[in-house]
Amino acid sequence: MTFKPAPWPRKLRSQEWFGGTTKDAIYHRSWMKNQGLPADLFDGRPVIGICNTWSQLTPCNAHLRDLAERVAHGIYEAGGLPMEFPVMSPSESAFRPTAMMFRNLCAMDVEECLRGQPIDGVVLLAGCDKTTPALLMGAASVDIPAILVSGGPMLNGYFRGETVGSGTHLWKFSEAVKAGEMTAEEFVEAEASMSRSAGACNTMGTASTMASMAEALGMTLSGNAAIPAVDSRRRVMAHVTGRRIVQMVKDDLKPSDILTRKAFENAMRVNGAIGGSTNAVIHLLAVAGRVGLDLTLEDWDKQGRDIPTIVNLMPSGKYLMEEFFYAGGLPVVIKALGEGGKLHKDALTVSGGPIWDEVKDVRNWNEDVIRPVTNPLTSHGGIAVLRGNLAPNGAVLKPSAASAHLMKHRGRAVVFETIEDYKAKIEDESLDIDETCVMVLKNCGPRGYPGMAEVGNMGLPPKVLRKGITDMVRISDARMSGTAYGTVVLHVSPEAARGGPLAIVRNGDMIELDVEARRVHLDISDAELAKRLAEWKSGIERPSGGWAQLYHDHVQGPETGADMDFLVGCRGNAVAREAH
Ligand code: FES
Repeated sequence: MTFKPAPWPRKLRSQEWFGGTTKDAIYHRSWMKNQGLPADLFDGRPVIGICNTWSQLTPCNAHLRDLAERVAHGIYEAGGLPMEFPVMSPSESAFRPTAMMFRNLCAMDVEECLRGQPIDGVVLLAGCDKTTPALLMGAASVDIPAILVSGGPMLNGYFRGETVGSGTHLWKFSEAVKAGEMTAEEFVEAEASMSRSAGACNTMGTASTMASMAEALGMTLSGNAAIPAVDSRRRVMAHVTGRRIVQMVKDDLKPSDILTRKAFENAMRVNGAIGGSTNAVIHLLAVAGRVGLDLTLEDWDKQGRDIPTIVNLMPSGKYLMEEFFYAGGLPVVIKALGEGGKLHKDALTVSGGPIWDEVKDVRNWNEDVIRPVTNPLTSHGGIAVLRGNLAPNGAVLKPSAASAHLMKHRGRAVVFETIEDYKAKIEDESLDIDETCVMVLKNCGPRGYPGMAEVGNMGLPPKVLRKGITDMVRISDARMSGTAYGTVVLHVSPEAARGGPLAIVRNGDMIELDVEARRVHLDISDAELAKRLAEWKSGIERPSGGWAQLYHDHVQGPETGADMDFLVGCRGNAVAREAH
């Protein structure tokens, strides 16, 4: 599409606070001046918020203060006034019960800060998994010019000569300890080698997936996703982004201009090509909801179905984000999709031009890291959306991380009512389970856990692992870490805690999975299913008070993005009243 910039100069919204000689204008300027800001900085130039998810409790984002300074340099250079402000920072590695429970709260924080403050445009600083979608959601709901800079991934990890990836090797080593192939002491020794620099997970986990989604949507400058956190070019990216946002404000280039259906279709295809996280499904549905786009699970299945996974990164492949960057990063992937007729080349980006202009001249510097489409990692990447009597509202599976021999499988259900039930039983040698069984985990959805934790990739029982078996079919209403792998059916909806059919699965029931037919089926009669559902009683208590109660009462199902019902949509930037 062709974007027509707004006329410049014109009066910006920040001048409603800072412009003129009224008592209120003097009040607003005077307090700001206690930071040592010269008077001419309030002369009507763009005021740019730097929305920062920096936190020492979010280690993946702990370097974002440095990047914020680089952004500020660029903003000053381009004639804007930078104003850094903090927002909530849900850390994937530490926040309990799960960071996902706070994605919507963080988005609400962002939205209200952007609307209530004298800001004309914003640079969003994100990194760890939930921070990227939360910031995009909040900015989309306010719809002022916005651009995202990612913190970037950590450098490669190494342990005893082997490359180790964030998360992916945590699961691998953990299973190796259970199988008796690694000692607990060696596991502890590996700990420091996994996270050896600033930055987010270095696999194509959720953080790198969401950085890639933001770039594919057109909400970052081209090349943002893959630059390692500690590479000097990450600072350059922050610097030039600061310059760019000032022009975006002058042009009035807003998220609603960029976040179109074409942009989301591009992103869903890119997710297939990178072997991206299943979490992208939920997050993109939620972002789309904020701009009023009716994106569905079926869109995910349709857009990704014939997309080959060409990025050879863990957990689906071999390499890490550092190699992806050296190979050329996401622009190479987007170009490959464009050359294959799988890209809306005219989708607008924060550059003010079409996405194709950003990628058409890039080169692939390593065809083992970014494979040619003629030699993909998996011919059918993307996300498989499953339905059936076990998941009437849908469930998802990532084919590139699954085992080919389990894609069509019928097995006996071994049921865990909660994650605690799973933990209590899984290492019990008397548990009646073998590799042909289907592991079923309940009550880990948005309401059930609460927050829809990343526990869907349940570790296998030790007695199965000792046979050298590394995968079994697993089904749950949970999510899975983007760094994880396996034949794992996730996001089953309605969730068990809302009385979805998952809630009434019993030990010994037979379950059929047929990924090609997009089917997940509980093999009991309709009458038996109806009888069990009628008898079902929730064991989940409504939290009393606080965010947990609000979340329980208003969070929606994963099939629409697990946003709060009252946060869906764009509410614009108008402020109801002045401060006083
Ligand atoms: Fe923060 Fe993986 S835990 S990016």
